[in-house]
Amino acid sequence: MIITMKMKNKETLLGDEFFNKNKWDEEAPYYALMNELEARGTDLEIACLPLKSEYTVLDLGCGPGRMTVPIAKKTKKVYATDFSEKMIEICRENCARSKAENVDCFVADWQNPDDDALFPEVDVIVQARWSGGCSTLEKYQKKARKYVVIIEWMKNPPRMARDLLFQNCFSEQSMELHPELRPFDAESYSSKNLSKTTKEIRDQQLKKKLRDSGITVHKNVVEEGWLLYGDTKEEIVETIIKLSRNPELVIRENFEKNLTNYMSQESGRWKFYMPTWSKVEWFKTR
Ligand SMILES: C[S@@+](CC[C@H](N)C(=O)[O-])C[C@H]1O[C@@H](n2cnc3c(N)ncnc32)[C@H](O)[C@@H]1O
Repeated sequence: MIITMKMKNKETLLGDEFFNKNKWDEEAPYYALMNELEARGTDLEIACLPLKSEYTVLDLGCGPGRMTVPIAKKTKKVYATDFSEKMIEICRENCARSKAENVDCFVADWQNPDDDALFPEVDVIVQARWSGGCSTLEKYQKKARKYVVIIEWMKNPPRMARDLLFQNCFSEQSMELHPELRPFDAESYSSKNLSKTTKEIRDQQLKKKLRDSGITVHKNVVEEGWLLYGDTKEEIVETIIKLSRNPELVIRENFEKNLTNYMSQESGRWKFYMPTWSKVEWFKTR
């Protein structure tokens, strides 16, 4: 009921960035870079999934195609969908670069009933790092013949990981001018944020429904991490600094100090590794 009321008045939800398509458009380039750092971890997540070469897959909220591209290599066809045009644009480029020709990328809003017909019926739905919360079991069952996969950050979601890297790296004046550079306030987020509640309600409702329906949820926890190798320290600094929205405002001395916490040497090369964890869950739909 609460969700219905909120969905009717989308403005209420727009207070939260996760429901704001424009926010995701802005995030797309940073997300694309993170995805490159996460390639190895993404393969670890995919290794947990019940995929077969003859399956069709719907990657919901695909972003720049972190899951899309490797899943396309393992399955017959992937429909990569996102409500952000910019994410879809980058996803298309990534598919082309990786020669993933069995992917159909298109813009569609999973929460908008007017877009329902755009989403094809497939064997598997993948909903990875879906900040808007889960869908109803009925909605999943309508579109997925076999399985639904849900992947969620555990601790250290990207904003917090990014904040750790850029801690003390912006002057008060820069943050005044660019409030988006302020570190993510996890405490106030969980206590005040309206959409977090919406997400929690959705997730809890699905969990209850799955329990009541006697559907088993298979679960794995994967340490995926952000990983990058470079011949020099500088090479790594120059890549990771691009995760900041404004590299030119970064206080480099502090940033380089922060990075040393995650740097080591391996076989004569420099390695950057920052751990992150995700929960990979899947269940049968029919
Ligand atoms: C955190 S990103 C995850 C991207 C990708 N699935 C991954 O695992 O890296 C969430 C994505 O969901 C998309 N999204 C959020 N709400 C959506 C909606 N209602 N319909 C379609 N896409 C949506 C956003 O635009 C964003 O690209």
